[in-house]
Amino acid sequence: MGNDTTGQLAGHRAFITGGASGIGAEMARRFTREGATVVVADVNDTLGKQVAVEVGGEYVHLDVTDSQAWQKLIPTFEPFDIVCLNAGVSTHQNVIGNISNFPLEKLDNDAYERIMSINVDGVVYGARAVIPGMVARKSGHILVTASLAGIIAIAPDPIYGLTKHAMVGLVKSLGPALEPHGVCISALCPGFLDTPLVSELAREYAKSFSMGVMEISIAGDLAMRALTERIPGSQWTVMAGQPICQYIPAPPFS
Ligand SMILES: NC(=O)c1ccc[n+]([C@@H]2O[C@H](COP(=O)([O-])OP(=O)(O)OC[C@H]3O[C@@H](n4cnc5c(N)ncnc54)[C@H](O)[C@@H]3O)[C@@H](O)[C@H]2O)c1
Repeated sequence: MGNDTTGQLAGHRAFITGGASGIGAEMARRFTREGATVVVADVNDTLGKQVAVEVGGEYVHLDVTDSQAWQKLIPTFEPFDIVCLNAGVSTHQNVIGNISNFPLEKLDNDAYERIMSINVDGVVYGARAVIPGMVARKSGHILVTASLAGIIAIAPDPIYGLTKHAMVGLVKSLGPALEPHGVCISALCPGFLDTPLVSELAREYAKSFSMGVMEISIAGDLAMRALTERIPGSQWTVMAGQPICQYIPAPPFS
């Protein structure tokens, strides 16, 4: 896959966590088609290297929960114009869907700590590692993959909802904090997209949650919209059969 030197992201350099699969891999493909060069970061080395080869980019092993790894890695790969803090998991591997399966009292500490460390710590560590360089260069855009579950309830996986609401809160608050420094941060809040994260049960639930499961290409469109509009602290959402739109809370909370 070649870089389009006339694309909307020509000359840009992007770093994508969770880039080996699903939404991250799709952003890697789309950004490359738009002219960017991409660094794919993941813990799945086999798939991550495959995506990097496909897009003509680089692969790096990064566990987003390892704060020291972030601090070592970013200075060796900078500068970045776009950083996608995208790696994320659901509470129970590949399972969301049946409310009665996962009452909170059955949540063990390992499962709780795993999702909190990947979905919350991993994004905070990533933002902390990349913000100084972006602020020094007075440029850059951080895209955090939150979810529609960061805006509305997701009853079958309340802890997933917790982590994604946390991401929306982080992005909302960092938006105005970064804006004076020339840096933008936005949240991607899609409904269900066709990735390995979404189990068969979740596909059933998706009919009520976000009107179905969307094709993965929508993830690229959503990311491009957020990058193009460049609104600090904004949330961008899409549901099956609906256009991409900015989520704007009703006054007086807007
Ligand atoms: N698929 C959906 O319906 C959907 C909808 C809204 C938001 N999201 C969010 O999008 C993001 C990507 O999910 P996806 O659907 O593409 O899932 P996916 O399972 O296809 O991809 C997730 C990637 O993250 C990587 N990863 C997991 N733990 C990691 C870690 N500790 N360090 C680095 N990488 C790690 C995995 O190896 C995998 O490549 C997640 O944050 C998810 O919550 C997904």
